[in-house]
Amino acid sequence: MKNKMEILIDEAKLQSRIKEIAEEIKKDYGDEEVVFCSVLKGAVFFTVDLMKNYQGDCLLDVVRVSSYEGENSTGEINLKIPLKQENIENKNIVVVEDIIDTGRTLKYLVEYLKKFNPKSVKTCALLDKKARRVVEFNTDYTGFEIEDLFVIGYGLDYDEKYRNFPYIAYVKND
Ligand code: IMP
Ligand code: MG
Repeated sequence: MKNKMEILIDEAKLQSRIKEIAEEIKKDYGDEEVVFCSVLKGAVFFTVDLMKNYQGDCLLDVVRVSSYEGENSTGEINLKIPLKQENIENKNIVVVEDIIDTGRTLKYLVEYLKKFNPKSVKTCALLDKKARRVVEFNTDYTGFEIEDLFVIGYGLDYDEKYRNFPYIAYVKND
């Protein structure tokens, strides 16, 4: 598959934008503690780099959902690792996602989180495929808006592969 891939966002560009996002978030929360809630598995790489750049009080939590098989969203969200009430209640939550596509995952997660009475909930996605939105949803923090391309690398997979690339690439259809 490697010969059909093209780099979309290289490592340097990714890292400098992630630093900016961390600074943006810090500006908004100041001295208040933030819980970064990483959406497994795709957001793992992004969450780590975001937190390493975050110069303030923060905690890490994880949730696991899945909605994708191959290149197509099944539309159905499955929650595989649920959150604990005590980790959410009265806390400032920032949901960290690799990519927002149809919007279903983040919309579902924000609604789910609200049941645990957080102090606030915001969302942060490294990539945004705006043209593909099915449900109305805007993220609070966005790394890059991208075209309607199937992307891989930096956590993003194609059937579980290619997550290890330090850059974002897209699959060329020929
Ligand atoms: P949504 O619920 O449609 O917004 O989809 C979000 C999830 O779909 C993300 O967390 C990704 O796991 C997956 N996804 C969407 N687009 C891509 C892509 O281009 N490559 C890999 N995974 C994707
Ligand atoms: Mg995902």
